[in-house]
Amino acid sequence: MADLADVARVRLATLPTPLHPAPRLSDRIGVEVWFKRDDLTGLGLGGNKVRGLEYLLADALAQGCDHLVTAGGPQSNWAMLAALAARTRGLGSTLVSFGDPPREGPVGNHALALLAGARLHFTGDNDRASADRGVDDMCERLRAEGLTPYGVHRGGATGLGALGYVQATAEIDAQVREAGLQPRQLWLATGSCGTQAGLVAGRAWLALDHEVVGVTVSRPATECAERVRRIAADACALIDVPSDDLQVNIVDGFLGPAKGVRSPEGDEAAELVARTEGVFLDPVFAAKAMAGLLARARDGAVEGPVVFLVSGGAPTLFTV
Ligand SMILES: Cc1ncc(COP(=O)(O)O)c(C=O)c1O
Repeated sequence: MADLADVARVRLATLPTPLHPAPRLSDRIGVEVWFKRDDLTGLGLGGNKVRGLEYLLADALAQGCDHLVTAGGPQSNWAMLAALAARTRGLGSTLVSFGDPPREGPVGNHALALLAGARLHFTGDNDRASADRGVDDMCERLRAEGLTPYGVHRGGATGLGALGYVQATAEIDAQVREAGLQPRQLWLATGSCGTQAGLVAGRAWLALDHEVVGVTVSRPATECAERVRRIAADACALIDVPSDDLQVNIVDGFLGPAKGVRSPEGDEAAELVARTEGVFLDPVFAAKAMAGLLARARDGAVEGPVVFLVSGGAPTLFTV
């Protein structure tokens, strides 16, 4: 148990990231929207995952680890950033992917992970969860080789990893106060659930009023809600915050054809944002979350102001 400030953290991100109004988008949809620009966190091509890595990598260093092992598909923003972050502190990295190596050769995050010097291992099993099992097996194998690995499952979605967005909640709170803004909702894309969990725990920590609204882009809503609640409770336990009254809101229906595959609604939303605000939303996370926000706004179901988390994922703008 500790205060957040007492939890070990390495600095990877350039913070605070900007919070700014999106006036032309707001006019178009009739809801006041502000963007929190976590596409600009500064490591690699930026993105939300850099924040959680500050805590996870500090833990790896505290445990004397020399190699980071994690999981994700070839286009995982998380896995690429984890490999890159490990390098900044002198650690090696192995990324375990489900399935087989892509036939067309490395592009996007896959190419960037190789550039960062990551070793890549494919499980040969299309079940995504095989990558997490593969992390545990790989850690054992590396220990036998004399390395000291630090294993993290997909997305870095643990209580410790979620502290990145507990800290971000304080950052956002300071920025909205400075701007004289009282957001009613904070919208984001939810995949492995660690980011939403951190924002939910952060809301509880600071006793804030705004709702955190996660648009699920990979899992069924019930599984997502359960994961957010569990990871948020784990994060709360680390910083001694009560977790019996956590508020979890999941919006369903915007996954499109599949996880990691662009959707027509997401593409339309990304086009609108690029053409009104000059901001690129990645096609498989933020674009789908924006599609959810636009649909709800069209139904008159959103009361602003709303903060929308632009969560990064630039490498997949060119690949998926
Ligand atoms: C660009 C981007 N946005 C949003 C998310 C969702 O974050 P989480 O997995 O913590 O739910 C991810 C996850 O990889 C991501 O890469």
